[in-house]
Amino acid sequence: MSRKRTVVLISGRGSNMTALIAAASDPAYPAEIVGVISDRANAAGLGIAQSRGIATRVIQRADHPNKDAFDAAIDAALAGFGAEIVALAGYMRILGRGLVEKWQGRMVNIHPALLPAFKGLDTHARVIRAGVRIHGCSVHFVTPEMDDGPIIAQAAVPVMVGDNEDTLAARVLKVEHRLYPLALGLVAEGKARMEKGHTVLAHFADDADNATSVVMAPDPLREETDLEQLARITP
Ligand code: GRF
Repeated sequence: MSRKRTVVLISGRGSNMTALIAAASDPAYPAEIVGVISDRANAAGLGIAQSRGIATRVIQRADHPNKDAFDAAIDAALAGFGAEIVALAGYMRILGRGLVEKWQGRMVNIHPALLPAFKGLDTHARVIRAGVRIHGCSVHFVTPEMDDGPIIAQAAVPVMVGDNEDTLAARVLKVEHRLYPLALGLVAEGKARMEKGHTVLAHFADDADNATSVVMAPDPLREETDLEQLARITP
């Protein structure tokens, strides 16, 4: 099996990038991380990538006369890395339509919300304000519209009483680190593909059986049949 050469784009902390690097350190994982590109020279993730022996590039918007030149520099760097897949991980810029369309089906992103709800920034604060009980994260194929591409995988977490933006963000981040390697693996293996604007997932023989028996819900809800009890933990 040839592992898919993957480049990760970051802007900051790089904890999702770190999770992808960790997953790819297993030779059986279907993707290898061959490079990291940051649009910020001071992104903490750059040092982490280097310490793992991964080549890094800084490509800053301010160093390019216009957006097209900036996108072209990214594309050239991707070509230089021999990239087959691009994984955005906390990359805080919107890439131009041309670049995104060129990489369509081979460019993925992680978003800290259950899309199509809560696109954009500050998802955790907005989730708390909206009073929703279930939150989570999504990995999706990137399309020119922000946070709009077909969903590959999602994971949910409960919103607990007393949560603030930080406690909720931390709970979501933990599952991001599990979900992203899983979703990238599916894409790298060709088990999740983008076709005509949709994600096509490989079909597993036991899917139908599982779907009737699995309740995807936060832990406290899973076994609970007592409605009064349910009402108490979802005040
Ligand atoms: C993550 O919450 C990710 O979902 C969002 O930006 C954050 C990046 O965090 N797109 P990190 O840089 O991966 O630690």
